[in-house]
Amino acid sequence: MVFVPAENRYTQMQYRRIGASGLRLPIISLGLWHNFGGVDPLENGRAMLRRAFDLGITHFDLANNYGPPPGSAEENFGIIFEKDFRSFRDELIISTKAGYFMWPGPYGEWGSRKYLVASLDQSLKRMGLDYVDIFYSHRFDPETRLEETMGALDFIVRSGRALYAGISSYSPEQTRQAAKILRELGTPCLIHQPNYSMMDRWVEGGLLEVVEDEGIGCIAFSPLQQGLLTERYLKGIPSGSRASKLNTALKPEDVRPDLIARISRLNEIAQQRGQTLAQMAIAWVLRKREVTSALIGASSLAQIEDCLQAQKNLVFTNDELQLIDDACWNADPINLWIKK
Ligand SMILES: NC(=O)c1ccc[n+]([C@@H]2O[C@H](COP(=O)([O-])OP(=O)(O)OC[C@H]3O[C@@H](n4cnc5c(N)ncnc54)[C@H](OP(=O)(O)O)[C@@H]3O)[C@@H](O)[C@H]2O)c1
Repeated sequence: MVFVPAENRYTQMQYRRIGASGLRLPIISLGLWHNFGGVDPLENGRAMLRRAFDLGITHFDLANNYGPPPGSAEENFGIIFEKDFRSFRDELIISTKAGYFMWPGPYGEWGSRKYLVASLDQSLKRMGLDYVDIFYSHRFDPETRLEETMGALDFIVRSGRALYAGISSYSPEQTRQAAKILRELGTPCLIHQPNYSMMDRWVEGGLLEVVEDEGIGCIAFSPLQQGLLTERYLKGIPSGSRASKLNTALKPEDVRPDLIARISRLNEIAQQRGQTLAQMAIAWVLRKREVTSALIGASSLAQIEDCLQAQKNLVFTNDELQLIDDACWNADPINLWIKK
């Protein structure tokens, strides 16, 4: 059936400016890391993308290696894009990345110009796109000069393969240097994509200050800590959940009883705020003005709809923030209570 998106889609979502750029993102964006791969039902992914767009989610985030198998999320996105979204291309911000292992040999991962350009060309082909809106260096490469990696991003933008350049999971100092190089090249760094959630607050150790200083936006990935910061695991590991599946980054042993005790406490705080835990977790990352968007994943329409309701209460009292902190840790404010 031809996709006719909801006419009221832009009344359902708030949008925030990405740093000092001219571009705005929905405050909730959808990533295709999981549940869109070759092992997943295409029609479920298609239904989620349609629903997301109906709800004002204009930003879909991919990477070369999303699947499994690697590349298949981009392939599936390409199929769905062709069927449903080609006529809405100008209403969409589509991103992809390169940095992690993609093909054998010395040119299939990290940050060389050779790898980044070849990988993006492959991604564009898989997705059936002429260009992506944002292309990211997925991780800092300690063995390649930053000038080369950033030079590749500049080339990629100038050659029309991407409209903007971004970086992911770079440290504060690496971000500062990358921003300087890109600024000098004339292709400003648009956005940083770090992990940020109540359970993993490393960005509060300097990165948020750097992005604000540099006029760079920040899209926080895994704000639900892969599903842990929801009601999903309060009563064990349900079948079909990420922790129950093979080859995902969330292992059954990550669902530790001590974590679940803390998460149950967070769930009570969310209920007192009139929110689900997923909604509170999203609102919590968005409370920071440096955070442009919360980049969620989902396995069902109901999850997307639930997450969207986070917008109804984005404000926290100091007391609520304190209660959340008390539930999260004992002493050290940057203490990561999830094992890496
Ligand atoms: N730059 C990077 O290095 C990097 C790394 C990781 C992720 N990312 C990006 O960030 C995106 C999001 O990552 P993520 O999937 O880990 O994000 P997340 O939002 O922390 O976790 C998503 C998972 O939480 C569960 N969930 C979502 N909404 C829920 C709700 N309302 N109630 C209960 N459970 C709910 C679902 O788990 P089930 O599947 O179990 O239902 C879903 O798959 C990725 O797709 C990718 O685009 C980037």
